[in-house]
Amino acid sequence: MRQKAKRIGLAIVGAGRVGLFRGEVAARHSAVDWIGIAEKNPDRAREVAARIGADFVTGDHRELLKRPEATAAIIATDEHLHVDPILCAIERGLPMLIEKPLATKLSESFAVLEAIEKSGVDAVVGYTQRFRRRWLAAKEKVRTGALGDITLVTSRAFMNRLVAIDNYKRSNAPETISPMVISGTHALDIAMWYLEAKTPTEVYARSNDKVLGPLYKGIDATAGMILFSDGCIYHLNISWALPVTWPAAVYSLEVGIVGTEGVLTIDDTHRDIVLAVSAPQSEGYAPDKTRLVDFMGSYPPGDIALGELRGPMREETDSWLNRVALGAETQHATAREAHNRLMLTKALDLSAKRRQPVPFPLAPGDE
Ligand SMILES: NC(=O)c1ccc[n+]([C@@H]2O[C@H](COP(=O)([O-])OP(=O)(O)OC[C@H]3O[C@@H](n4cnc5c(N)ncnc54)[C@H](O)[C@@H]3O)[C@@H](O)[C@H]2O)c1
Repeated sequence: MRQKAKRIGLAIVGAGRVGLFRGEVAARHSAVDWIGIAEKNPDRAREVAARIGADFVTGDHRELLKRPEATAAIIATDEHLHVDPILCAIERGLPMLIEKPLATKLSESFAVLEAIEKSGVDAVVGYTQRFRRRWLAAKEKVRTGALGDITLVTSRAFMNRLVAIDNYKRSNAPETISPMVISGTHALDIAMWYLEAKTPTEVYARSNDKVLGPLYKGIDATAGMILFSDGCIYHLNISWALPVTWPAAVYSLEVGIVGTEGVLTIDDTHRDIVLAVSAPQSEGYAPDKTRLVDFMGSYPPGDIALGELRGPMREETDSWLNRVALGAETQHATAREAHNRLMLTKALDLSAKRRQPVPFPLAPGDE
């Protein structure tokens, strides 16, 4: 017999860029009856509430998460502010979609994972790239053995420094913000998803900070290796210090996967659609008026066209709402996988800081 969809009362904590995108998608979903938002910035709260037709608005996530109408929650606060809203949603037993990373401190990530698993709530994390056709097609080839046993994965992530500047400006703890923790985690999740049957045992990395160090006590770039118990190597790097005029608005990525029987390369640099304009276009992440050339498609959530978000964040949000309403299986990252990604990015940062390889996994105090 076909399953009847559960009705959803959706609590959205944090109505910034992502809260708005997800709220707009949810407002069009047939199982969603009620949307409440908590947003600390009152002007932003009013604007987003009007745009998605919210039924309830507050500045306090505790008040929102106590509302009897709420049956599911999206935690879309700034990276370092996920923890308290997650713990409140757990108290109510609400299924959750949490933005990445799970937390920005290793000890908090351990604590949040423990609380989620103890409560049994269905909490998944927004690794949006898993909802793109190219990464799914590659996943299928790896999963079904087309490449044989994977021996080497490489990923090169180049990012416009606008993202880094925005992140360092939003945080008063720059030591918890790194290119790996905040952004490298997307490419890392894809690679680790492909390598899910393997066990990482050691991590080695180096970082530098010529651009963002003097300005924000930040890190420009990290290059490293993750080594697995069976000899497989994942070689990864990220720089989020590319000039503002670099055409990719956010992410451009190249991935290679080598196995004993095959190889798969994926060009995700977005050089296939290039826009050049005489007047700045205020679109994408932290739009900047000096950017006149754009690799379209490089803004990870997607693009607005004909008034709606098109692209992976829409598919990811719809898919999660179907998971909640119908109990449908989805490819979202679990909280345990998200904790593993945070721990790997922390291990890379720790190795770079110590200038030594570090054994994996880490313990809660290893930061
Ligand atoms: N999956 C993706 O592709 C993707 C893309 C961008 C951002 N993200 C993630 O989404 C999250 C949000 O990013 P963003 O770009 O929307 O940031 P943002 O700064 O635009 O929005 C965050 C909002 O949360 C509000 N906020 C913070 N704490 C709050 C609280 N306790 N209660 C109520 N409101 C609160 C802030 O006032 C702000 O408006 C981050 O974790 C980020 O890493 C994911």
